[in-house]
Amino acid sequence: MDNRLRLCAELVEGVCVCDVGTDHGYLPCFLIKEGRCESALACDIGEKPLASAEEHIRAQGLTDRIRTVLSDGLDSVPMEGVTDVVLAGMGGELIADILGRCVKVRDGSVNIVMQPMSKPEYLRRWLWDNGFAVKREEACISGRFAYTVMSGRFSGERTYRCDDEYLYFGLVKPDTAEAKEYILRQCGRLERAARGMLGSEDKKDLGERLLDITTQKRKGVSSCQR
Ligand SMILES: C[S@@+](CC[C@H](N)C(=O)[O-])C[C@H]1O[C@@H](n2cnc3c(N)ncnc32)[C@H](O)[C@@H]1O
Repeated sequence: MDNRLRLCAELVEGVCVCDVGTDHGYLPCFLIKEGRCESALACDIGEKPLASAEEHIRAQGLTDRIRTVLSDGLDSVPMEGVTDVVLAGMGGELIADILGRCVKVRDGSVNIVMQPMSKPEYLRRWLWDNGFAVKREEACISGRFAYTVMSGRFSGERTYRCDDEYLYFGLVKPDTAEAKEYILRQCGRLERAARGMLGSEDKKDLGERLLDITTQKRKGVSSCQR
């Protein structure tokens, strides 16, 4: 279990967790072993990853607590009693697409934990546009990479602003070493993109705005280091 999946586990709130794109099934096994939930569904679109999850679940002696489901996203998942859905290790667009196809997550009863591997800004925008409110967001470092993990649920209300700063940095505040690192890496990424925009007439304003945001973010990180 890497730091990324451990952080996903920390954001789980309920008793029955559905892990979408489970691959080897590490997360549901960890959640049960640590007593963080009572039962789980380990779901994947691929037969091979699901077979690997079944093997791991059997080896851990957890076949009575974890059920495997072959499913594209949540399409074939029996959602009765599911308190949490975890979508980790997938792109932000795929996570949004999976959530958009599931009616059950729109009743507000399900805590959704998301760890986008790419395009977090797309996912943040989609969640905001579609009435999902992110409540927590934290960063972690795993191997050479910095990741963000967010959790929230459908509320139909907009309780925060969805401006450029939020889209690119989410709710991550520079209060841990991991969060500072995530912010600084996002700054680097955004600065490269913004500099490329400065030469284009239509994107110049956006490029300048993004550079202003990264300057403020870098200041925020340094003031927390004093
Ligand atoms: C990179 S692995 C991530 C595994 C684990 N969740 C993690 O974060 O370490 C992505 C997994 O998502 C599965 N996957 C991709 N698209 C999917 C979909 N539409 N529905 C369910 N699973 C999907 C893949 O088969 C693969 O096992």
